[in-house]
Amino acid sequence: MCGIVGAVRKDTSAMPILLTGLRSLEYRGYDSSGIAIIEDKKLICVKKVGKVAELEKEIAKDVYSGKVGIAHTRWATHGIPSEKNAHPHISTEDVAVVHNGIIENHEQLRALLESRGYKFSSETDTEVISHLVHYYLSQENDLFSAVKKAVRELSGSYAIAVISKNAANQIVVARQGSPLVIGLGYDEMFVASDASALLSETNQFIYLEDGDVADIMREGCVICDKTGKSVHRAPVKSELTAEDTSIGGFHHFMQKEMYDQPEAVKKTIESAMKNGVIDERAFGAKAHSVFRKISSVQIIACGTSYHAGLAARYWIEPLADLPCNVDVASEYRYRNPRFRKGTLYVFISQSGETADTIACLNMVKKENPDAHILSICNVAESSLTRMSGLVFLTRAGKEIGVASTKAFTTQLVSLLLLTLMLGRIRKTISSKKEKEITKKLLTLPEKIEEALNLDSKLRALAPKFVSKEHCLYLGRGIEYPIALEGALKLKEISYIHAEGYQAGELKHGPLALVDENMPVIAVAPNDSLAGKLQSNLKEVRARNGKLFIFASPDTKIEKDDGTEIILLPEVDELLAPIVYVVPLQIFAYHVAVLRGKDVDKPRNLAKSVTVE
Ligand code: M6R
Repeated sequence: MCGIVGAVRKDTSAMPILLTGLRSLEYRGYDSSGIAIIEDKKLICVKKVGKVAELEKEIAKDVYSGKVGIAHTRWATHGIPSEKNAHPHISTEDVAVVHNGIIENHEQLRALLESRGYKFSSETDTEVISHLVHYYLSQENDLFSAVKKAVRELSGSYAIAVISKNAANQIVVARQGSPLVIGLGYDEMFVASDASALLSETNQFIYLEDGDVADIMREGCVICDKTGKSVHRAPVKSELTAEDTSIGGFHHFMQKEMYDQPEAVKKTIESAMKNGVIDERAFGAKAHSVFRKISSVQIIACGTSYHAGLAARYWIEPLADLPCNVDVASEYRYRNPRFRKGTLYVFISQSGETADTIACLNMVKKENPDAHILSICNVAESSLTRMSGLVFLTRAGKEIGVASTKAFTTQLVSLLLLTLMLGRIRKTISSKKEKEITKKLLTLPEKIEEALNLDSKLRALAPKFVSKEHCLYLGRGIEYPIALEGALKLKEISYIHAEGYQAGELKHGPLALVDENMPVIAVAPNDSLAGKLQSNLKEVRARNGKLFIFASPDTKIEKDDGTEIILLPEVDELLAPIVYVVPLQIFAYHVAVLRGKDVDKPRNLAKSVTVE
């Protein structure tokens, strides 16, 4: 959620790389930021509330020349966004710490450290780490060893980077439950919570494992694992480039990412094809033998990824003839679920770092070390992919806007491919049917392109919503998760209260909300449930509700004064959800822009939710 960057440079230019890194990490947390560097054996720290731009303004007032520094962009968990609570946290003008995650035993540690004479100046859980490291450092004057001792006392999740004014060529880092990578430069080294922060300097990374503590110096690093043993972690070359993280000619990353969708979907489909047919090995070398054995599917995810899972159930159950459950990770992990042999556990995550999703994966593995695990993820080197037996990578490219768009459509494509593979292996989908579906799937990028062409029409619709405070989204069948996703997009970036409902549920409660002030958006392709949906929409009109219907060119829905119909491209029922979500994303985007909201960095949210 927060972002960490650090550098051990050969010259005194740590500051620019720290600022560049912070700018690229800002999407992860943006309520305050700060930097600590070592200059002439002095620890200098600058912090500011607000966006990284505020910190840059402050830093521009002076000249900073340090070789070693750490920096942080914060998403508040403990304590309000303020300069005091911003990181780095300093102990005794000597030790500086930046931290992602949550220290669960911080209250006990605070009491202990206070009894040892340490004075606290923030409300954060992080400050205990700086004092704890200082305590051990004062005993033996070795930063690496002090951090190793300090982390043994922490419970919770953390990625930390620590510097000390007396260790002028060194950063010590530790990871437990929060991502951290070491970037390898020429005669210099870097560290970050996300490789993308360091792409201007290197594409060679070492991904730390949980329990690792590393001593990073200019000429290399020493890594100890959770047992304290020195270990070698092989460097990995990242495929990401600095261009992948640039905004191009767009106004916002979200806008760019919506327009990336035809290409992202195409790449995702192509990555699974071999000689014109879908190759089950795209899910991993052992996919065939695993898929053959399974008798049910359990999908686990959060937010948008959960909506993709909900949609997949409408494909997997009828086409692959498998019972399929879909759960929100934060609920699944605490509801004492029954574990059954023969279940394929599917974890869906754009980032592969979502704390609740990872906790569920750990729980499933603990309960049954032989569980069949498949992760659908957009980040090749993420924690989730590294923990999973089978992996399918979505090829969305880097997603920076907090509101997930291209990750969702590529997740849907992956789940449809999964359905086809399960159906093929279980012989519930004939090869003729598989060929027909594959042929349709290959037309998807064009269909999404056509949906994107609705952009100006949707922008013209946005003023009708700009002063609304509430909105309902309705769908039936597989379009219900699309309604949920449309509502999530609108609420997270425009702050209009939006709810997605199964249209058939309307008269069981939410219909009471409908009057002439309540806009109702309906996702209405001409599918097998179109007639049923039409009756539900009549119930809305009968109460004077204003309807905005996203429909097929041959829709049977009648237009009247209170009904606006937005016609989408003709698309097969099976693929409709992947196309129909696109105008809902664009619409939410225009409403948010018109309301003057920060589309890429909505308040209170962060891109990757690495804390519980
Ligand atoms: O990285 P993940 O897919 O695991 O993230 C899950 C959710 O946090 C994420 O989808 C969130 O709901 C998005 N902001 C929605 O746009």
